[in-house]
Amino acid sequence: MEPRYSAPAKVILFGEHAVVYGEPALAIPVASLRAYATISPGSGCQIVALDTHQTMPLPVDSVTVDNALTRMAQLTLQHLGSAPPDATITIRSDIPLASGLGSGAAVSAAVGRAVAAAVGASLTNEALNALVYDIERMHHGTPSGIDNTVIVYEQPVFFVRGQPIETFRAAKTMHLLIGDTGQKSLTHVTVGEVRRRYKADVDETRAQVAQIGVLTREARIAIQIGDLERVGALMTRNHSLLRALTVSSEALETLVSAAESAGALGAKLSGGGRGGNMIALATPSSIEAVTQALYDAGAVRVLHTRLEPVST
Ligand code: PMV
Repeated sequence: MEPRYSAPAKVILFGEHAVVYGEPALAIPVASLRAYATISPGSGCQIVALDTHQTMPLPVDSVTVDNALTRMAQLTLQHLGSAPPDATITIRSDIPLASGLGSGAAVSAAVGRAVAAAVGASLTNEALNALVYDIERMHHGTPSGIDNTVIVYEQPVFFVRGQPIETFRAAKTMHLLIGDTGQKSLTHVTVGEVRRRYKADVDETRAQVAQIGVLTREARIAIQIGDLERVGALMTRNHSLLRALTVSSEALETLVSAAESAGALGAKLSGGGRGGNMIALATPSSIEAVTQALYDAGAVRVLHTRLEPVST
């Protein structure tokens, strides 16, 4: 079998957008949804993207190349001081694009791992994280770095921009339902929108961002002591603040309300917003009803993921 490398999707539990302004955010990997890169020997080097039907030769000029996959491959080779291998790197991803699940960062991480392996090297997570962050900057200008961090390390992350990575643990199993509005939304657009608001009304926006920071810290504690009622209430509060920052949408509002009416402990949009995905915290007995309610309210896909307590 061909060697295969991969990276997971992610969901942000708390703190998106505020994290861009130095507040903390909590995110977890979604192991069941992944991007994959396989290596097969050949003559010359090429990157094949199955999902977009593209075949791209290497080397390319990394200064001018505007394709994130070839740029990631090129950056990885530069970092390792290697020439392109005689190999085809084939990429495919199960992660929907432009929906707040980190598909770009996951694809980049899988490419970096495969390219390194193809030249007989390996990358530390720290080095890979820095390379994927460079590519994220290409996609959305001023990323906080949370996507690449949670995806490369594949751990729950309490993330504060520019600070050492901290992980966190759940005291009780958390059942999360990820509901997709089916509407694509580009993160750089919503991040730009919040920035515009920040400039136009500094005091109010700064206060909202700070409140998200406070509740994110409280949510970390609630998760760590297993107070899931509190976690749910904080999710709903976080969603209201994101709505005030104008990054919700009609479809997100519909799904969040449907989840809450069907017995979720709380629900919120996740990621950049104005489309993409929302998350609901369900109890074991409400999983089925909340899933059905999300589909009935128009979700195009509902994924059940768990954050499990890890024994030390
Ligand atoms: O990539 P997304 O859509 O999951 O959103 C990233 C989270 C933001 O806080 C909105 C932006 C960022 O760079 O942290």
